Amino acid sequence: MLNDIDYVLYSEEKIAEIVKKIGAEISEDYKDKNLLLVSVLKGSVAFMTDLMRAITIPCEIDFMAVSSYGSGTKSSGTVRILKDLDRDITGYDLLIVEDILDSGKTLSFLIDVLYTKNPASIRICTLFDKPERRQVDIFPDYKGLLVPDEFIVGYGLDYNEKYRNLPFIGVLKREVYEK
Ligand code: IMP
Ligand code: MG
Repeated sequence: MLNDIDYVLYSEEKIAEIVKKIGAEISEDYKDKNLLLVSVLKGSVAFMTDLMRAITIPCEIDFMAVSSYGSGTKSSGTVRILKDLDRDITGYDLLIVEDILDSGKTLSFLIDVLYTKNPASIRICTLFDKPERRQVDIFPDYKGLLVPDEFIVGYGLDYNEKYRNLPFIGVLKREVYEK
């Protein structure tokens, strides 16, 4: 598995530091709100579990699953909901917890869908941001670390469902997905 990694972009320690910082900001901003963290499976699972423990105010969590990628490295543009929320979100302050904002197509679709369900508010929290690749106007309210236009894996992020269990963020060797 490690042989497929070109280099380590962000270490476990660096990620932990940023997640703590974002958690503190959210705890401050949402102290008088009805916070519901919505995690988008599966890539954001590592981030979600660390972030929720860095949040010091009451909150609830829920999960959605969407697919936009198939097995490649580029967004297909078609987003399917594979798993919807379990509850009525009326009146909740939703914070969408995403692993990475790339073209932005997945999140912009998701936000449109969620707005029709009458939440009190919706904001976006993404751990990684690849702004160079954006194709729609979408601006994260909380963002962790910038990522160059490379394909990264680890800390929940996959290539063909593999590498999610790496504790750091690594850049995948091109030969792995270009062969
Ligand atoms: P978007 O619709 O292009 O913004 O797609 C975002 C989703 O694509 C993320 O939630 C990830 O699951 C996936 N993704 C985008 N870039 C990467 C990457 O570099 N590594 C792994 N997954 C990625
Ligand atoms: Mg994802």
